[in-house]
Amino acid sequence: MKIGVLTGGGDCPGLNPAVRGVVFRATARGHTVEGFLDGWKGLMEGKSVPLDRARVRNSIGKGGTLLGTSRTNPFKTEDGAKKVLATLASKGIDALVAIGGDDTLTAGRELLRRGGKVVGVPKTMDNDVNGTDWTFGFDSASSVAVDALERLRDTAESHHRVIVLEVMGRHAGWVALATGLAGGADYTLLPEEPFNETALVQAVQRAVRERGYALVVASEGTSVSPKLKSGEAEKDDFGHEILREKGVGPYLAGLLEKRAGVECRSAVIGHIQRGGPPTLFDRLLATRLGVKAVDLIDAQQFGKVAVLRGEEVVGVSFDEAVGTSKRVGASWLDLLHTFDG
Ligand code: F6P
Repeated sequence: MKIGVLTGGGDCPGLNPAVRGVVFRATARGHTVEGFLDGWKGLMEGKSVPLDRARVRNSIGKGGTLLGTSRTNPFKTEDGAKKVLATLASKGIDALVAIGGDDTLTAGRELLRRGGKVVGVPKTMDNDVNGTDWTFGFDSASSVAVDALERLRDTAESHHRVIVLEVMGRHAGWVALATGLAGGADYTLLPEEPFNETALVQAVQRAVRERGYALVVASEGTSVSPKLKSGEAEKDDFGHEILREKGVGPYLAGLLEKRAGVECRSAVIGHIQRGGPPTLFDRLLATRLGVKAVDLIDAQQFGKVAVLRGEEVVGVSFDEAVGTSKRVGASWLDLLHTFDG
C-alpha cells in the first residue's frame, strides 16, 4: 500500500515521533509512505514528499513537525474536498493517516464520509481531544510552562510581587491546570470556571501575607476581560477566535494591583510552550499512536482514531474522538483549589 500522512493544526512536540512511528511500521510491513506538506493544504495543492526511514530517523527528539502544518480546512468549500480526493487519486494513496487535534480529525471524518480511507492520530498541547486519556504535546508544553512559572517565582519572591503567567488553552484549561498544580501557583484560572474575582483576590492576599509574594496562572481562554467578548477577534479557518491579542494576563495583573494593593506583573508564555523537544511521555505516546495507525490500516479498520485508554493503545471511531472537546472536570477543579492561596 501507499500510505499518506499529514500533520494539521497547531504544532506540538510529538508530531515527529508520531510520523516516525508511521514510517517505521509501514516500511517494515512493505508499504511506502508519502508525507503531505502543511496539513490539509498539501493535500489540496498536491504537495508531498516521499518518506523513508532515513528521512525520519533522527526526528524522535525534535519539536515542531518536519512535514509543516497549517490551519487550512479543505471542507470549507466543496472545491477543497474535490481537490483532496483528486490528489489522493493522482498520487495513488491507498490510505491516509491524519495527525491533528479536533479540527484536523473532524476534517478526516469529512473525508471518510466522502469515501476516503482515513485513520486518525490525536495530538494537541491543549489535551482537549475526546476519546483519549491524554494527547501528546500536552506533557511537553505543560513542562515548559511549569519551568516558566519556577523562573517567575524567583522574581516574584525577590521583589515581593504578584506575577500572573498566561498560558495557552482556548476552550480547555488542561495546561493551566497542570501548570498551576505542578508549579505551585496560588490561584489558577481556567475557561471551565466562571471568573471568581473575590476568590482570586483572597488567595493572592493570603499568599502575599504568608510568604510575601504570589503566583497566578491563567488560561488565555478565561473569560475575565471585557475585551474577551466573543465576536470581536479575528477567526481562523475552523471558526476559532485567535486569542493572542486578548490579554488575560495583563488584565488580571492590572486588576490585582488595584484590588490587592501589591505590585503586579504579568508574562505571556505564548508559543514558547509549544516548542522544544518532546518529553519522554510524549515521545512514547506519539510513537505508539503512529505505529497503531498503520496497524489499523493493515487491519482495514478505516474510520478509526488511535487513542490511549489506560495503558492500552486502541482504535475508536472518529465520532467518539471528535466533535466535543474534553474539559477539565469537577474532581480536577476540587484538587486544584485545595492549593489556593
Ligand atoms: O490549538 C492549540 C493552541 O495552542 C491553542 O491553545 C492556542 O489558542 C492556539 O493553538 C494558538 O494558535 P496559533 O498558533 O495559530 O496562534
